[in-house]
Amino acid sequence: MFFAALTINSMADVVFFSDADFEQYRTLIYNESGIHFTATNRSILESRLKERLREKGIDSVKTYFASIAKDKEELKSFLDSITTNLTRFFRNQAHFDALEHFVVPELMKIKKAVGNNTLKIWSAGCSTGEEPFTIAMLLSEILPPPWKFEIVASDISLKCLMSCKEGFYAESRITGIPDSYLKKYFDKVEGGYKVHADIMSKIRFDYHNLKNDSGLRNQDLVFCRNVIIYFDEAAQLAVMGRFWESMASKSFMFIGHSESLFGMNTKFEFVKTEWATLYRKFI
Ligand SMILES: C[S@@+](CC[C@H](N)C(=O)[O-])C[C@H]1O[C@@H](n2cnc3c(N)ncnc32)[C@H](O)[C@@H]1O
Repeated sequence: MFFAALTINSMADVVFFSDADFEQYRTLIYNESGIHFTATNRSILESRLKERLREKGIDSVKTYFASIAKDKEELKSFLDSITTNLTRFFRNQAHFDALEHFVVPELMKIKKAVGNNTLKIWSAGCSTGEEPFTIAMLLSEILPPPWKFEIVASDISLKCLMSCKEGFYAESRITGIPDSYLKKYFDKVEGGYKVHADIMSKIRFDYHNLKNDSGLRNQDLVFCRNVIIYFDEAAQLAVMGRFWESMASKSFMFIGHSESLFGMNTKFEFVKTEWATLYRKFI
């Protein structure tokens, strides 16, 4: 009986998503977002697609494909549903140490020389907000007056952006935040913590697909961590070209610690600090 049920399930899975379906979906996803599903991670796409079909009450991948091919809003929701949004506060502490002890002092020197006291930062692929909120808390701690900062935090996931704007984090998600920051920058609410309005006001949350030009210019610092790992090299290179255009002269960029531009033909220079490695637009 148990074996029979298993066989029926696995047959249903085979029928559910043929090789041709996989090819069609992964081509569309790649063209629309740069996210690259390989044969190895096909099962991830398959399970996320199944979940989306269940939510929509649709029982055929072909019917659903026809709907995302003609309906831009549904395509956005679908792309949202296939993203990986894993993140946490103070993820990769070494980056924040490098930010505090190397990047911020360097940027202050450069900007002071031209009479500008505002740091412009872009958190690209911000997920549920832990990264931009970490940056905002740290800069609030270390920047002396009259220095100011502005953060743009963007993602392709509308669900994530809604969660960012809410600024609520359950108890299980606040690990990594030092107690002093928790007291100073959050309010204790039922079931978790809510980010203070003054920290919220330093961040603009925007829907943005990294396939397109963001229109941002003169950014002093870009965080794009654990995002390009889902792209193939051609898409990574194209995104790097767009970051380059959005960044100021002598600005910095952090990518994820398991990501690298090594061997890629970009104009960024590799910078090794005592705390972490990062990239710089030197000209
Ligand atoms: C794993 S999270 C990383 C979050 C955060 N940067 C960190 O390192 O903790 C990757 C995020 O990139 C976003 N993303 C993936 N492809 C994107 C694209 N083409 N444009 C914008 N955001 C994208 C996903 O929606 C997801 O929220």
